[in-house]
Formats: sequence, structure tokens, C-alpha cells
Amino acid sequence: MSDPKIKAPRGTFDVLGEQASARTSLEAAARAVLEGAGYERIETPAFEATELFARGVGESTDIVRKEMFNVEDGSERSLTLRPEGTAPVCRAYVEHGMHKRRQPVKLWYLSAFFRHERAQAGRYRQFWQVGAEALGSDDPALDAESIVLLAELLEGMGVRGTRLRLSSLGSREGRGEYRERLKAHLRAHEESLSEEVRGRIELNPLRAFDSDHEGTRRVMDGAPRLLEHLSDEDAEHFERVRELLEVANVAYEVDSTLVRGLDYYTRTVFEFTSEALGAQSGVGGGGRYDGLVERLGGPPTPGVGWAAGVERMMLAGDAQPTAASPVELFVATERPGSTRAAFGILTEARSAGVRAQMELGGRSLKGQLGHANALGARYVAIVEGSETVLRDMEEGGQERIDTDTVVHAVLRGLRDL
Ligand code: HAM
Repeated sequence: MSDPKIKAPRGTFDVLGEQASARTSLEAAARAVLEGAGYERIETPAFEATELFARGVGESTDIVRKEMFNVEDGSERSLTLRPEGTAPVCRAYVEHGMHKRRQPVKLWYLSAFFRHERAQAGRYRQFWQVGAEALGSDDPALDAESIVLLAELLEGMGVRGTRLRLSSLGSREGRGEYRERLKAHLRAHEESLSEEVRGRIELNPLRAFDSDHEGTRRVMDGAPRLLEHLSDEDAEHFERVRELLEVANVAYEVDSTLVRGLDYYTRTVFEFTSEALGAQSGVGGGGRYDGLVERLGGPPTPGVGWAAGVERMMLAGDAQPTAASPVELFVATERPGSTRAAFGILTEARSAGVRAQMELGGRSLKGQLGHANALGARYVAIVEGSETVLRDMEEGGQERIDTDTVVHAVLRGLRDL
């Protein structure tokens, strides 16, 4: 009896066949949109010091409180599988002195992230994001450009029924007075709030806008709105972003209840949802994070960016598998003794730039021809020692030639097409 099977862990999945190929198209689309706008690819490690996320994403967030996968590596220092990409990119910006480069520094990534969430459709414990971060400028045109690029990517991926919600959280300094007002409102209605919201009044009162709890929602309907209490400068910044989105013809709705699940945001925040998704309707979101680099030990540096979920873009869009490259030459072996010669042809063909495969499955000659046909091979070489039968699968003809000349003949045939 065989040993028990081992399955992929809950909330994870294998990427196979057409799915893998559709992801290749998505990556190409993301690269075209982002590199066209001057974003450079960045890769950061899959795990980081836990403190990076505690400090960067925020102690009071669900991500840090409940969703981090911590890794044991035998050292004293606690490590965590990255739950998001913004804090790591800012860490790399500081670590590599990127503030000395021409600003803004624009970076993009397509990477796997890890959150210990309750798995359901569109919500996984390992998922992928395409992300774009622009550091070193607080120009509202950068916010608008960033949002327009995400809109372009979603459109390019055929994501259906999208809606863009937009708001401003103001700068950290400008937010202080409003926070006090909101806290006072929450305290005045404490008995109607969920336990979770009640526990976060001091630490993160804004998150109450995100609650699904009936009583909390009623309290929040009457709560003061940050958008109505922005400083003049923050209001002006928001106005500019809106104006530029209009110039770019990107439709949006201002939603004063929009707060995001990460603590680093300042000023602009936004989120795209898609009707084609169920409960997990957020397909991509982001915003400005002007204090984050400084909080990670770097110089005061503004920044803005977003991330979009790869699985959600695929669920709500129509990413097409890339067409498989057709095989140009299939090398069949008539008898086991010709394997050596066949292998020689295979390597020679590949060095000459011909897409070649050879028989590796122990099939009969008939089986090999059927297989070559299924692969869509243009030529089949049936190696019989020093001589080879070269069959043109498209035209139907065949000729017997010296085994040494097979690659030559194939190249000639392909050129004459
Ligand atoms: P986020 O809203 O947490 O933002 O995630 C961005 C996107 O990642 C979501 O809209 C969703 O499509 C996808 N996503 C998140 N969690 C999961 C999950 N468990 N399973 C599948 N997809 C998921 C951030 O991560 C910020 N770092 C975005 C950002 C970049 N802000 C500024 N720069």
C-alpha cells in the first residue's frame, strides 16, 4: 500500500497549464503598462524582519495582529513571510540609498504574498500581487498617474464591472484634531459598537468605518467625516488629484468612508472593486504613504502606490493563455539504438534556434507520430542510424537523408516557408 497523499496547504494552490500561461500574459501586460511609464522591476525577499511590518503596516491592523506567518530560523530575530510589498520596497529604498537617485524612484513588482486569512473564493493564504510604488515626490500628478496606470492595467486585463472609490485621509499632522472628534463620537456611542471596534478606539478609530457590524455601521452613519475636516493644503492636494483624473477620463466616486486596512496611508486613498467578484470584491487598491520611509529609518520621503491581486484580476478578467510556440522538429527513434543519434540532432537543432523535442516516453513509432502530430510538429525526423526519414507534416512528403544533414534540411525548409 502506498503512503498517504500530501496535499497543498489550505489557502494555497498549484498553478498549472493554461492558468500558468494566462499569468504569463498578465505579467507581460503589467510590464508593458508599468515599464512604459518608467517603473523598474524590483524583487525583495519573501521574508523580512517581523518588525518591518509591525512598524510599517501598523500594530493595530488585522494583518499584523492576526494574519502574519512567522518563520522560525533558529535565530533570536523574528522573521515574517511578507504580507504585502510596500514596506519591503520602502525598506529597500532606504537600504540602497535610493533617495540619492533622481526622484521619484518608480518601482514595480509581481510577487507572492502571505496572509493567514480564512480561505474562501478570491482569498488565499498565498496570493500574488502586481504592485507599483513611486517614492520621492508629493506631486498630486504622481497620485493621478499611479491611479491611471492601475485603471489601464485592469482595462487591459478585461476586468469587468470596475468601480473606483477615492478619498483622502489627510496628512498625519492634519488628522490629529479630526481623530479626537471621531474618538469622542465613538466613545459617546460605545455601547452600540462591536467589541473589536471598541478595543481599537484609541489605537485606530478610523478603521471603524470598515466594520460590518450592524450597530457600528449605524454609529458610523452619523460620524464626522475626515474629508470634511481636511487642512487647506490636504484639501487642495485632493482637489488636484481629482482634477487630473478627470483630465485622464478615469471615472471615480468620492467615498468618505473609504479607509484601507493598512496604517501607513496619508492623503489619497483608492480602491477598485469589480462586480464580477463575490464578497472579496477589492481587485486593487493603494494610496499615498508620506511618512512610511521615515518610520523605517530613512529620510522624510513621500510615496504613493498600489497593488492589485493577480488571482482576482484573473477571476474578474479575461487573461488569455499565451499561444504555445509550435514545435518545429520532433525527433522520433525507430529503435532504441538510435537514441544517441536522435539526441545529437536534438541538441544541434536547439543550438541552431529550432524549437525541437525528441521522443522521451518510450512510445512505438506509431505512437511517436501521433504524439508529434498532437504537438503540432512541422517536421518529424525518424532516425534509423546513419540515415533518417524526414517527414514534412504539413505538406505530407518525406525524404530519406543522411542523419548528419537533418538540421540543415529543417532549417532550409523553415526558411522557405
Ligand atoms: P491590499 O489592499 O491589502 O493592499 O491588497 C491589494 C490587493 O491584493 C487587494 O485588492 C486584493 O486584490 C489582493 N489581496 C489582498 N489579500 C488577498 C488574499 N488574501 N487573497 C487574494 N488576494 C488578496 C496592499 O497590499 C498594499 N501594499 C497596496 C499598496 C501599495 N498601497 C500602496 N502601495
